[in-house]
Amino acid sequence: MKLREIPVAPELIGRADGEETMTAWQQVCGVDEIEQDSGRRFDFGGRTFAIFRSGSDEFFCTDGLCTHEAVHLADGLLMDYELECPKHAGVFDIRTGEAKRLPACVNLRTYPIRIDGGVVFAGLG
Ligand code: FES
Repeated sequence: MKLREIPVAPELIGRADGEETMTAWQQVCGVDEIEQDSGRRFDFGGRTFAIFRSGSDEFFCTDGLCTHEAVHLADGLLMDYELECPKHAGVFDIRTGEAKRLPACVNLRTYPIRIDGGVVFAGLG
């Protein structure tokens, strides 16, 4: 799929705590470029993120590196909403970033996702 050439303007979006924050949307890839129950690495601004597609076609974005030893999480095993780190089998909830099984004990940051015209955008600003 050919991605748009035009960057998406920053906009205010609501957060879980009821506040609003300015978010800059970054194009990641086409929806069809991520299979169900898998992830994709996305590098932007000198940082690494991971985009996941659940078995029910929901998309999520988290930090891309494990908080235990900085392994790429897009290569992990996704089962429902639980992601198993490929190195030591720590588990994170991709919806919230919560570390759910040791040795992972520090939560991941999560970022909003928007789907527009078959393209996945992540709110990384
Ligand atoms: S590197 Fe992920 S649990 Fe150790």
